[in-house]
Amino acid sequence: MSATEQTFPADFTFGVATAAYQVEGGIENDWAEWERAGKLKEPDARCGPAVDHWNRYEEDYALARAVGATAFRISLEWARIEPERGRFDEAALESYRERLLKMKAHGLRPVVTLHHFTHPTWFHRETPWHQPASVDVFRRYAKRCAALLEGLDALVISFNEPMVLLLGGYLQGAIPPGLADGPTTMRAMENLVRSHVAAREELLSRLGRVELGISQNMLAFAPDRWWHPLDRALVRLGAQAYNHAFHEALATGKLRVTMPGVASTRVDIPGARDSVEFIGVNYYTRAHLRFVPRPPFIEFKYRDIHGRGLTDIGWEDWPEGFLQTLRDVKRYGKPVWITENGIDDRVGVRRPHYLHSHLAQVLAARAQGVDVRGYLYWSLLDNFEWLEGWGPRFGLYHVNFDTLRRSPTPACDYFRAVATGRKLVA
Ligand code: NOJ
Repeated sequence: MSATEQTFPADFTFGVATAAYQVEGGIENDWAEWERAGKLKEPDARCGPAVDHWNRYEEDYALARAVGATAFRISLEWARIEPERGRFDEAALESYRERLLKMKAHGLRPVVTLHHFTHPTWFHRETPWHQPASVDVFRRYAKRCAALLEGLDALVISFNEPMVLLLGGYLQGAIPPGLADGPTTMRAMENLVRSHVAAREELLSRLGRVELGISQNMLAFAPDRWWHPLDRALVRLGAQAYNHAFHEALATGKLRVTMPGVASTRVDIPGARDSVEFIGVNYYTRAHLRFVPRPPFIEFKYRDIHGRGLTDIGWEDWPEGFLQTLRDVKRYGKPVWITENGIDDRVGVRRPHYLHSHLAQVLAARAQGVDVRGYLYWSLLDNFEWLEGWGPRFGLYHVNFDTLRRSPTPACDYFRAVATGRKLVA
């Protein structure tokens, strides 16, 4: 192996990732409503004060620096910024600006997500994503966000895991707005692409230049029965629709989705062609797909094929799929940022190994010519895991959910050693 295959170059970024609703606390939005409707795995679970990042952000920046991070991913909470349609909260905007400036002052490059799953409570009632008006509503919000980013050299993510939002919120009814309809999902998808384009226009007009992408949840797929042609066909269709449809639309301007019997679309979106500067990859696991002879014709499972044991949330630990995924996005010819990768490890002893095995795949991908520029670990802190509530623990730092005290897990030492030493440690 050459030196470049074993080490991370000086300009490779190590950082940590968070999202507003999961860490800040005190947010009233569509998820808070969803919780009150008893829709979480544990119907009494509430995000509430989360882990109080809103008040402890400087402490949290220092914790990130202490593990050698030089980038910090946050999301802006739309519900704080535009609590009522068309009324922007200047104090919230100022507060975000202040947070971002302090982040910079701590030596952390801001990575800023405009939309990470949540919406103001009025959004779905007035302009849900399947309505064309949603695009202008998002444009207005993005315009305000652009002003926050001036002079910060931030990496910007328009949408986090839009497929999770679409499948969960529009096709399965499992998350807000709780709809379950194929054609509606496709219309919403088209409007998300249009909204990305609108946000890009606003960012460019305010900032002159921007480093913009989306973060796509990318799964490694495998047939549940390797010999079964329909399972294998599902893997091909699944990879295209789930992993690549957004990336392709933002590269070519053509949105193409085929989910037979469920949902399909073929539409060209003006301005979407070549509308990202980087490809954002969130990678966690592999899913096995099995054809079933009734709608939605697909069964999705996590299997412990290699006896490594599933992670605590029940996902396969499959670092090999990370390399496969990174090689797969090479086709877009853009720099790649790993905007999330991490493990739910409630005891905290498996995380160093998970990090080690996944970072080894990042090095392998770089050696094979994939232009990976940075790695953001999900997450700095244990936090609120959506439908799963307070069970999972993804944090480099353990958080006592009663006292909110942060304490390092063994992975902190490992992360710091790699981020500062620029090579994997045994
Ligand atoms: C994806 C999401 O972006 C994040 O919000 C979530 O907590 C992690 N992955 C873990 O599931």
